Amino acid sequence: MVDMDQLQQRALQELEDVGSSEGLEAWRQAYLGRAGELTTALRGIGQLPAAERPAAGQRANQVRQVLTSAFEAREKAIEAQSLAAMLESSSLDVRLPGRPPSLGHLHVINQVLRDVYAIFAQMGFSVFQTREVEDDTTNFQMLNIPPDHPARDMWSTFYTTTPGVLLRTHTSPGQVHAMRQFHPDPFRVILPGKCYRYEQVTTRSEYMFHQVEGLAIGQHITMGDLKGILEHFARQMFGPERRLRFRASYFPFTEPSAEADVDCAICGGKGCQLCKHTGWLEILGGGMVHPTVLANGGYDPAIYSGFAFGMGPERLALLKYGINDIRLFYANDVRFLQQFG
Ligand code: PHE
Repeated sequence: MVDMDQLQQRALQELEDVGSSEGLEAWRQAYLGRAGELTTALRGIGQLPAAERPAAGQRANQVRQVLTSAFEAREKAIEAQSLAAMLESSSLDVRLPGRPPSLGHLHVINQVLRDVYAIFAQMGFSVFQTREVEDDTTNFQMLNIPPDHPARDMWSTFYTTTPGVLLRTHTSPGQVHAMRQFHPDPFRVILPGKCYRYEQVTTRSEYMFHQVEGLAIGQHITMGDLKGILEHFARQMFGPERRLRFRASYFPFTEPSAEADVDCAICGGKGCQLCKHTGWLEILGGGMVHPTVLANGGYDPAIYSGFAFGMGPERLALLKYGINDIRLFYANDVRFLQQFG
């Protein structure tokens, strides 16, 4: 029988000199492999006299444990060495997992705007882009709101330091631009974009928000057309179960005028802070284009008529997703925004 102490000592000695993973594998085969010295020695135990076998077996197993754990330790050390060498010779550690590229997505309001475009496109409306910086004439006077008219109180306004230049308070001045562009043809457009009002920010109102204006000009257009289009829109946007109601209202640039409300998605109509405890959330104003405005756009009110409306996409988004605070849209909290990815 081989001398176990001597075998262990020799094996450990050799292991210390091993410097590569190939060398390590050769060592493993020489001692612990199927034809290795220790394995052969273990097999030889069967030939020993019965009385010596237990002690010899125990000792051989001890040696195997010592060699196995020495092997594992050496293996780790060699791996660490080769990694260190690799990192030293190149700055790239190809074994690290890559950083997953994060894909962005459209802001929830842009998604809602696209929904709105698609629904109105089905009804023959094209998108008409107009400016965010307006003049007093187009934002107010062309829309039948003279200077100092009390109706201006409906729109708190950001005036610039240039007299007569302001951030548009609504998309309605786009009506004038569109009429002048399309005159004398009949047309149907929506005018989406940002609007600005110098006012207190609440759960329902922001100082910057979007509107989608709608405008249809032609002959024999009636308030019934406006109602039909808006009802179709609401069904497409919110589903058939959501309720829409019209209320008589006042705007200087439409006559007659109306506002439309949708039943509140947060409280289901029972009343909450968002809907001012009315159960309804206003989403748009509209009406028949005022004769003076038609004339300002170049259309003879004796021949032409039209309807106009202006809706708030932020309000639509509150209702569509059951969000209870308009300020969330522009607070830039990704935890909120990512929910719409
Ligand atoms: N411009 C109005 C507002 O901002 C909404 C509106 C648009 C009303 C078109 C009538 C017609 O409140």
